[in-house]
Amino acid sequence: MATARRTRTIRVGVVGVGRGQSFASSATDLVGMKLVALCDLWEERLLEVGKRYNVATYTDYDRFLEHDMDAVILANYFHEHAPFAIKALAAGKHVMSECICNATLGEGVALCRAVEKSGLIYMLAENYPYTAFNMEMRRVYQTGEIGQVTYAEGEYNHPMAPEDRLRIAPGMNHWRSWIPSTYYCTHALAPLVFITDTMPVMVNGLSIARRTPDAKTVRRGDPGSVILCRMDNGSVFRIFGLTLPGHSNWYRVHGDRGAMEITRGPGYYGPGQVRVWHEEWDMKPGEIRDRTYLPDWPVHTDLARNAGHGGGDFWTNYEFANAIRTGTQPFLDVYRGVAMSSVGILAWKSALKDGVPLEVPDFRSERSRAKYAKDNASPFPSHAGKKGYTRLPASILGELKPTKEGLALARRVWKEIGYKGE
Ligand SMILES: NC(=O)c1ccc[n+]([C@@H]2O[C@H](COP(=O)([O-])OP(=O)(O)OC[C@H]3O[C@@H](n4cnc5c(N)ncnc54)[C@H](O)[C@@H]3O)[C@@H](O)[C@H]2O)c1
Repeated sequence: MATARRTRTIRVGVVGVGRGQSFASSATDLVGMKLVALCDLWEERLLEVGKRYNVATYTDYDRFLEHDMDAVILANYFHEHAPFAIKALAAGKHVMSECICNATLGEGVALCRAVEKSGLIYMLAENYPYTAFNMEMRRVYQTGEIGQVTYAEGEYNHPMAPEDRLRIAPGMNHWRSWIPSTYYCTHALAPLVFITDTMPVMVNGLSIARRTPDAKTVRRGDPGSVILCRMDNGSVFRIFGLTLPGHSNWYRVHGDRGAMEITRGPGYYGPGQVRVWHEEWDMKPGEIRDRTYLPDWPVHTDLARNAGHGGGDFWTNYEFANAIRTGTQPFLDVYRGVAMSSVGILAWKSALKDGVPLEVPDFRSERSRAKYAKDNASPFPSHAGKKGYTRLPASILGELKPTKEGLALARRVWKEIGYKGE
């Protein structure tokens, strides 16, 4: 089994022992990392996980940051990553943040400034670009075989049974019950950005609402959305999600000399074949008109195959560790991360006006981003009443109230999992 490139061990602390456990278990010698501390508010679960890994545990984030370590991985609540990242950077720690960087545009601006000030490594822990099929599409794209991207599609649609959804969303104010349908867009968008190295400059969002509240859960957000992104090379990307019946994890890229996609099917849960095809009248000598094949990762195949989320749980830690060692920001740096997170936020603002086009600022440029510095509009209850924050509805239908049936099921499920809050 190959081990990843390394010179010194990177000591890592993880915040959040839900999804955070994937990072904790992947922070091993194989990527040159060592887990040294864990932090969570849910003390019972924290102590249990801490014991399993035999590492220090903290319920207080400030105390956790005093622990002697090089880097922090954030898997705390979806909408609270940016302030946690800014604190960690100020404490001299490199940061990797799970699948979203910022919950408001203002937080995105503040985060870019904090990374620049710190000189430290920051990475968006988006795992979907690192499936074997998405890495292969990036490789093919970089050979120039399909030319420049003109149009692309990305889908991450993950329906769940009501009990399962409630189990991972304990409490009336849990972010999963309030997240607008466009916010979880990076699983669909990041692979396309990774494959084509383009950046979004304009978005339109349309949300797909239920006609009635979700009767079986306490969810306030809409179940689906479509986002159109104009990219910086003029191409158009269509992004679809989020919890409509019909699981789908799928990507397609059209170029001006051909197209490629993963074959429809179970996405990273299945083998995921890649198809590359051309028009008969536009073939170069030696090119194959239409081919479909099962790709593998370019390197570290065994390590990726044995990791969760289609290899992503290995690759995110690996890329983060290499970025720290080389002192070079990773591909999924703060600018790409904040821009993609902001696509979800801007698409929501667009959806609330039934699809008006909105500009995505260039977060690399202080001139372009400065005017968003005070834009802290948010649908999440924990932001309500917070200084500088304004309120957005979580559904295009406005403020929805849960049904009696949904509330009763929620209380039963939360009791079963030992959740003691409201
Ligand atoms: N990439 C993926 O495939 C994938 C899968 C699942 C979740 N995620 C992402 O991971 C993140 C966490 O997801 P989750 O499902 O574990 O969410 P979660 O809400 O279940 O867990 C978050 C954890 O953070 C803890 N926490 C919250 N505030 C804290 C604080 N102030 N100090 C210490 N701990 C605190 C909570 O107690 C909880 O255990 C989210 O951003 C989510 O989008 C990504």
